[in-house]
Amino acid sequence: MNDRISIAPTRADCSDIEPIHYRKARRELARSRSGYALEQAFYTDADLYRLDIKAVFHNDWVFVANGCEIPQPGDYLTLTIDKAPLIVLRDQDGQLRAFHNSCRHRGSRICEHKKGHTNRLVCPYHQWTYDLNGELLATRYMAQDFDARRFPLKPVQLETLHGMIYICLAETPPDFNHFRDSISSYIAPHQPERTKVVYESTIIEEANWKLVIENNRECYHCSGNHPELLISLVEMALPDDDRNGEEFEIMQQKAQRWDQLGLPHAPVDGGREFRCIRLPFRQGIKSMTLDGELGCKKLLGELTEEDLGSVRAFRIPNNWHHFLSDHILHFRVLPLGPDRTEVRTTWLVHEDAIEGWDYDPERLSTVWRATNDQDRKLAEENHRGICSPGYEPGPYSEVAEFMAINFTDWYRAKLSEFLQRPQDQE
Ligand code: FES
Ligand SMILES: [Fe+2]
Repeated sequence: MNDRISIAPTRADCSDIEPIHYRKARRELARSRSGYALEQAFYTDADLYRLDIKAVFHNDWVFVANGCEIPQPGDYLTLTIDKAPLIVLRDQDGQLRAFHNSCRHRGSRICEHKKGHTNRLVCPYHQWTYDLNGELLATRYMAQDFDARRFPLKPVQLETLHGMIYICLAETPPDFNHFRDSISSYIAPHQPERTKVVYESTIIEEANWKLVIENNRECYHCSGNHPELLISLVEMALPDDDRNGEEFEIMQQKAQRWDQLGLPHAPVDGGREFRCIRLPFRQGIKSMTLDGELGCKKLLGELTEEDLGSVRAFRIPNNWHHFLSDHILHFRVLPLGPDRTEVRTTWLVHEDAIEGWDYDPERLSTVWRATNDQDRKLAEENHRGICSPGYEPGPYSEVAEFMAINFTDWYRAKLSEFLQRPQDQE
């Protein structure tokens, strides 16, 4: 009997998307309604997940990290956006650059570590060697007429905002300037470019990435789930939100003080794509710590006022940030699959702050480590419940979940726009 090789009908994860997926997406989009949670398939279906990657994560600006994590020429970090491995580095001139982490020989991943320092990028497979500009410098045993200039590493678009790195895999990325120009004055006084990471956490949430974002976009769940966070955080999301009587008064007082200090605080009009606002903490609270006291004695930048509330900034599809007087929090969301999402959080203080004197990393990070874990559980339970055959999208609260409505509206519009592109038609 002949041996037979059975080839299972698999679809490569990095293969292109098939027409049936577009039809599925259109059908689900037609069923979904603004103001309601998304249809089940948008959270659970593997084909629609692949569309998310193509329409959103390979097509829009994705937050990577604060550039202070790779301060010296030759410092690099890596990340993976779904299946796309990427390198972000600082070249010999101090400029930040991003490349696909895929060798121009036969495609091997070049950098396997999360972070490192190198003067050359040497592929571990056959040692093709690139400089920090991505130029191919050296190969072995190639033909006499081999022209190395034809095989540089493929660059990826990169922008910075006060040291914060964003990349976009699209050849023609969407505009970044409006976002940068709109929020720059809010975060500039905190000088994120003059900070250092003093605590880092990466957690995996068994939930679709959109549930992680939706959960972040509302504080409807806060009173029932986040005792540590609510020591400092005021649940209202807009200055004229009078759900919190006492806190509403605080907002009026603080706004006057911030005007005197020249610190912008009014909500920025970022449409559905981004949001930025300075909001106060509860009365007498200076920072997001368990006792409400500063988490770092040395304030950021040239700040002298201890209680500045926090600038809260969010940008689709994957990041939100808090800029306080004493520390900064960056949150980065990356999808790993339809039901798996990575959330990386970094805590940053002034670059000259001294551990043990100005700050204690454990104390500084306590509130958000607890909050992240609570949010992980909420998103995972949300995902499990959505998998139920009894799931039917329910309505959001227009008062308490308007940002989740904005997000799902943005998502549907983004996907619709993507499905209408001529090159992506069936
Ligand atoms: S795949 Fe990189 S050198 Fe061969
Ligand atoms: Fe939460």
